[in-house]
Order: sequence, then structure tokens, then C-alpha cells
Amino acid sequence: MPEAAAAANNGAAPPDFSLIAKARGIERGFPTFIFDMFTQYQEGGPDYIHALLTGYQEAPKGVEISEGTHYNPYFANAAALAMAKPISDDQVTYDDGSPQTVEQYSR
Ligand code: HEM
Repeated sequence: MPEAAAAANNGAAPPDFSLIAKARGIERGFPTFIFDMFTQYQEGGPDYIHALLTGYQEAPKGVEISEGTHYNPYFANAAALAMAKPISDDQVTYDDGSPQTVEQYSR
């Protein structure tokens, strides 16, 4: 029910996650895309999502964002988005000693 999801999230429904990595594939201009053919780099979409998840911060002085949105300079469409920071450090515990950080969770 996208309407219910949107109503619960300040008017913006969460996206279909199976498509978002594809949809946010980044543009890599010349000459980078030539190198990509050799290195096989094609993780632009996942790298974008990682940047977004680890990129939440206070809005800088002088930057106004609308109420109910959250500043994130990595968001593709604007300076702020409707999704609040979804994961925080120490939220999930690992038994194998992996770091319990947003950086690690996001990867
Ligand atoms: C670890 C869990 C989550 C991940 C990885 C994640 C990831 C994402 C990504 C990649 C986007 C798209 C950003 C873009 O369009 O470029 C997004 C948007 C959004 N997410 Fe999440 N999300 C998570 C959890 C949540 C939760 C728990 C909620 C709701 C409580 C939520 C609500 C939304 C909303 C409303 C948007 C649309 C934001 C806008 O267009 O302004 N997300 N999320």
C-alpha cells in the first residue's frame, strides 16, 4: 500500500529497493568509463547507496531544509530527503568481532 507508506513518511513512499541500485547507477564520463571496461567497475548504484547511508549530517549554517526532511549531501535529488537516517552505530551486534558501525552495516 504505497499510500499508507507515504502517509507515514511525510508524503514520500520508500522506493522499491530491488530497483534503486540500478536506478541510481552513476554516469561516468570519458575517460573513466574506458578504465571501467578494464577494472570491471560497475558498483555505482551500491556505492551511491553506501554514500547516502553514511552521509547524514547537520545541515550547514545558512542551508534551509523543509520540515520533516533530513539533510544529506549525497542524496541525488535535493539537499535533504524524507527518509531519516535508518541505521546507527551499535544497533546490531556481531559475534565475530566485525565493527558495529554504520560504515560496516551499510557495506
Ligand atoms: C537500512 C535500511 C534502509 C536503507 C538501506 C534505505 C535506503 C534508501 C534509499 C537508497 C533510498 C533512495 C534514495 C534516492 O532516491 O536516491 C531511500 C529512500 C527513502 N526511504 Fe529508505 N532505507 C532504509 C530504511 C528506511 C526506513 C526504515 C524508512 C521509513 C521509516 C525509509 C523511508 C524512505 C523514504 C520515505 C524514502 C524516500 C525519500 C525521499 O524521496 O525524500 N527508509 N531509502
